[in-house]
Amino acid sequence: MSSPTTSSSILPGAPQLAYRPDGLYLEEVNLDALARKHGTPLFVYSKAAMLAALAAYQQGFAGRNAQICYAMKANSSLGVLQVFARAGCGFDIVSGGELERVLAAGGEVGKVIFSGVGKTRAEMKQALAAGIGCFNVESEAELAVLSEVALSMSKIAPVSIRVNPNVDPKTHPYISTGLKGNKFGVAHEDALRIYKYAASLEGLKVVGIDCHIGSQITEATPYLDAMDRVLDLVAGIEASGIAIEHIDFGGGLGINYNEDAPPTADALWRELLAKLDARGYGGRKLMVEPGRSLVGNAGVCLTEVLYLKPGEQKNFCVIDAAMNDLPRPAMYQAFHAIVPVVQQRATSSAVYDVVGPVCESGDWIGRDRTLAVAAGDRLAVLSAGAYCMSMASNYNTRGRAAEILVDGTQAHLIRARETAADTFRGEKLLP
Ligand code: LLP
Repeated sequence: MSSPTTSSSILPGAPQLAYRPDGLYLEEVNLDALARKHGTPLFVYSKAAMLAALAAYQQGFAGRNAQICYAMKANSSLGVLQVFARAGCGFDIVSGGELERVLAAGGEVGKVIFSGVGKTRAEMKQALAAGIGCFNVESEAELAVLSEVALSMSKIAPVSIRVNPNVDPKTHPYISTGLKGNKFGVAHEDALRIYKYAASLEGLKVVGIDCHIGSQITEATPYLDAMDRVLDLVAGIEASGIAIEHIDFGGGLGINYNEDAPPTADALWRELLAKLDARGYGGRKLMVEPGRSLVGNAGVCLTEVLYLKPGEQKNFCVIDAAMNDLPRPAMYQAFHAIVPVVQQRATSSAVYDVVGPVCESGDWIGRDRTLAVAAGDRLAVLSAGAYCMSMASNYNTRGRAAEILVDGTQAHLIRARETAADTFRGEKLLP
């Protein structure tokens, strides 16, 4: 870490992020200059990286009838949604709030699908009134309520039922969703009966089937297994006279955080489409709901080193970003690479736990990292485009960070830094 490298990408899978002699760049933008201008912590995203990630899916589906619905929970900032809306994506939403964001960003409501185990009646009404494309229903009880709500509005709700294929995605237990013990979807063995029930309800029209087995999946096998299980169900459901117009395989494809080697979206889909073709479903309308793989490696979080705190057992590098900005290490023991924004020639390196200012021992961003840093230096936390800002909180009354979207040489501020006053707007003093 002692001598500056010339323009080379530092994270496989993130070619828009590279060192030049004067520091780290995202596309054509010098990140140190950006941090000086806007302050830290600062999220910076590359539009080109998002569109390149999307292009991998588009290539994978070339010539097919496929709809890509960006799972916006990964990063729901309006500027990010605009990039995907303008590129023709639909959206996978999980709340009425997310629907409002799609509308505010100019997304096409007919391409919105609504997932989640706990949709309220108010959210169902809102989505029906807006005219969303499909409800991905997760239980019998929800089917009954949705039908009732739709009839009360003299509407018919388009539905898909999320089936739980009971395959192991081999990922962190908190982000594994397709196993029997998970709260998501309906059990494979109950699916046919529940489809018949859905078809019997007057306020519903069955249009599809969906599954989602987990997140940060780094191999093709769980997808291939899930596809087999879902296609078996489609055959059974259609044999009972219920047409399935589209098949939705969910999201979940992983990204490279460290030494992960997930397949690319086009390689994965070449393999999956071969199975689909072999089983005679290749001409069917297909849907996917990728989140992390579209935005995760398109973003970094810039932060400043506040203090170095050497210790007997550990050296701490205290930065100005914390678990409220970057919750994944605290929640999932997740790894994010941390690199200097400007590579220092002279400073000697040491091993640090990189921690934030929040009053919790769980507030660490990286453990045992070798860094050559001094107070005042800036660091970049990599792979911070997905599930960081969208999961950020105001814990410790820390305002959420600002966000920049980079497009070539342009840097657009897409979210202003939250002030303390912003964090308590809406609160009321006692009389
Ligand atoms: N569709 C459904 C129904 C989902 O529940 C999810 C993610 C996705 C699509 C998108 O999955 P992706 O392509 O992003 O893997 N906060 C965790 C990840 C939670 C994922 C929740 N569901 C993390 O930071 O790792």
